[in-house]
Amino acid sequence: MYVCICNAVSESDVHSCVAAGACSTRQVKAACGWKPGCGSCTRRFTEVFSQAMTPSSDAASQVSAA
Ligand code: FES
Repeated sequence: MYVCICNAVSESDVHSCVAAGACSTRQVKAACGWKPGCGSCTRRFTEVFSQAMTPSSDAASQVSAA
């Protein structure tokens, strides 16, 4: 699903950027080549970025099991 229509950035794009080391919304935007647009995606982008930065329960259980 698209997070930003103006820049054709999807949720998986955001997750990929975070997995590649982006640790701020600014870094994700830079990695995606984000250009200023309508701004209607700001809240959704922040939500998706927060989800991407939060370890999943599966990952957390794998870390604790190691
Ligand atoms: S939808 Fe992201 S700037 Fe327009």
